[in-house]
Amino acid sequence: MLWAEFPPGLGATIDFPYSCEERMSDVSQDNSRRRFLTAVTSGVGLAGCAAAVVPFVSSMTPSARARAAGAPVEVDISKLEPGQMMTVEWRGKPVWIINRTDEMLADLESMGEKLADPDSAEPQQPEYAQNKYRSIKPQYLVVVGICTHLGCAPTKKFEMGAASGVTDDWKGGFFCPCHGSMFDLAGRVFRNVPAPTNLVVPPYSYPDESTVLVGVGPEGVA
Ligand code: FES
Repeated sequence: MLWAEFPPGLGATIDFPYSCEERMSDVSQDNSRRRFLTAVTSGVGLAGCAAAVVPFVSSMTPSARARAAGAPVEVDISKLEPGQMMTVEWRGKPVWIINRTDEMLADLESMGEKLADPDSAEPQQPEYAQNKYRSIKPQYLVVVGICTHLGCAPTKKFEMGAASGVTDDWKGGFFCPCHGSMFDLAGRVFRNVPAPTNLVVPPYSYPDESTVLVGVGPEGVA
């Protein structure tokens, strides 16, 4: 599935019988009545299109509009158990927050030779996440859930070994079904897969122990 830049629902659910452009094209083909019809039906057509869109946009809540515009997103992680993952939306993109277990963190240490950029040399994360866990707190990974190849949504694969359906020695991570890219539990991309870089770590911070603020770093900068 390609992840659209639009907020979920916007655009995809507006289903006209035919487009505004088609309405205008039909009108222009009838030369004998062109002026009259252009004056009348283009006004009606455009008004109809606008009428269909405006109620939809205005039906968004203020918080939904703010999210769509890129406001920081505050996330309560107090109920996120070890081994669990949650997804929030920030700037129209899915952001994953994963509570990694001690075993998951230990496995990250042994991934080195399988990875294309094990030390996160590429600027796919803020400086404060350029470490072996790619995170501020080792326990929590915060990462944009969009494949760095062509923008598909990778699938969570936390099962170990053959049970994952990925590889027999799989240690947990994410698999992109579009072209087979693999990422570990720090969002680091494997070697020899189509995706060129690690998953993106967005700016984020912890206003308190149980809250993640996506969109604003520890220094207060987006
Ligand atoms: S989009 Fe993920 S592998 Fe191509």
